[in-house]
Amino acid sequence: MNSTKMWLLAGTSFAAVLLQGDLRAQAQTVAAALSGKVTSAEEPVMEGVVVSAKMDGSTKTISVVTNDKGEYSFPAAKLEPGKYKISIRAAGYDLDGSNSADVTAAGGKADLKLVKAKNEALQLSTAEWLMSAPGLLDKQKATLGGCLGCHTLQRPFMSKYTAEEWPAVFQRMGFYYQGSVPTKPQMLVQGGARGERVRVRDDAQKTMSEWLAKSNLSAGDKHSFEFKRIPRPKGRATHVVYTEYDLPRKDAEPHDAMRGPDGNIWYSDFGELMVGSLDPKTGKVTDYPLPVMKPEEPKGTLALSLDKQGNFWIAAMYQAGVYKFDLKTKQATPYPFPKEWQTNSTQASMATATNSHVDGKVWVVNNDTHNLYKLDVATGQYTDMGVATDASGSHISGYGMPTDSKNNAYLLEQGNTRIGLVDAKTNVTRIWSTPTVGSKPRRGRVDD
Ligand code: HEC
Repeated sequence: MNSTKMWLLAGTSFAAVLLQGDLRAQAQTVAAALSGKVTSAEEPVMEGVVVSAKMDGSTKTISVVTNDKGEYSFPAAKLEPGKYKISIRAAGYDLDGSNSADVTAAGGKADLKLVKAKNEALQLSTAEWLMSAPGLLDKQKATLGGCLGCHTLQRPFMSKYTAEEWPAVFQRMGFYYQGSVPTKPQMLVQGGARGERVRVRDDAQKTMSEWLAKSNLSAGDKHSFEFKRIPRPKGRATHVVYTEYDLPRKDAEPHDAMRGPDGNIWYSDFGELMVGSLDPKTGKVTDYPLPVMKPEEPKGTLALSLDKQGNFWIAAMYQAGVYKFDLKTKQATPYPFPKEWQTNSTQASMATATNSHVDGKVWVVNNDTHNLYKLDVATGQYTDMGVATDASGSHISGYGMPTDSKNNAYLLEQGNTRIGLVDAKTNVTRIWSTPTVGSKPRRGRVDD
């Protein structure tokens, strides 16, 4: 990963965020484009308020954070002259009054006044809901952890469902494909090898239903508990400039993102058969459709992997195969799994082609059965390597599957605390436990 730029995926906000950590030096030498002080009646000096500016008609939002004097300043290199919309983020506060500012060649000034938030519940992050709601045991928290893939916990906590009504909601949630969002639900094909899927196990439904009914708005339009908020950033944590790019498709769900050899940022889409590129200089986004392999199944892709020839390999989830996307011709080639291996729940979550030049093989995992497949790039044929099993008979299934320079595959066990390594030549698997309890290794990279 590039040392000064890091990609964060803002999962459900449909925006990709580029975090540039090293702009402090720059900010000191270049005049500010826009600056001001942030105050409120409660706090005359407000450190750690995120101030965001978006030029009218632009897809880019730039954010800075107020310092220990309550002052913010946007570096001149970050804002061109123009009319900007200003927004803020500060736990418990809303922006009062005007939310626009003019920036001229000489810069601009805008002091901002904050007032107590009108509806603080709408500001809470998922972590803050979990901190705030009383009587929550680790077991219930783990169950709620299964509710985060498609939306935040705002939905259950702001809902009015009673204890009697919750089980039907849990059941409905079980019908959705993982890449669903409330604006674009996609149904799983039921009756496959796995049968009907549930989001909350039968034995936990009663406790969860009663607990959720106590914690939501079923008894009135106010929550029965105080909101606990994560404190605003301080000191060094305020020395940051964020650049956020809107993606033009409202339903875009960037899953993986990486910098391509062309300097653009490429992303896979968890909710659509699409691969897209973003030019970080201009903010221009270009999307390329990927061909449908299984029309009846949910559409969306997960892993994005770049081979040494400049092709992206994209894991096609329920489409049950992978795509090769040639960066030069922008052509996509589908490689479906053999028909006889497929069921309704076949799911290609990962494909790793980083070192496929070594032996001509792309590693792919079927996340339904945890079988590892190797795709021979020259022939398009898959070989089923089985579930990775070490000498003691222990199985491991990977989520992240980075490869090393010999195209051996590491398996990062997301639901557990172990890491495996499968030898590309011998198919021998070794497994290590990480020292940290609950470490849940997820994605990884092998360095040079
Ligand atoms: C696989 C994706 C997915 C998961 C996981 C998921 N949901 Fe949802 N949820 C949705 C979608 C899509 C909608 C909007 C459509 C709907 O209401 O059925 C939604 C809507 C909701 C709503 C609003 C419904 C309404 O009538 O206003 C609540 C409440 C909710 N979910 C609770 C939960 C809870 C609790 C969990 C965990 C047990 C959960 N969800 C897990 C996809 C999901």
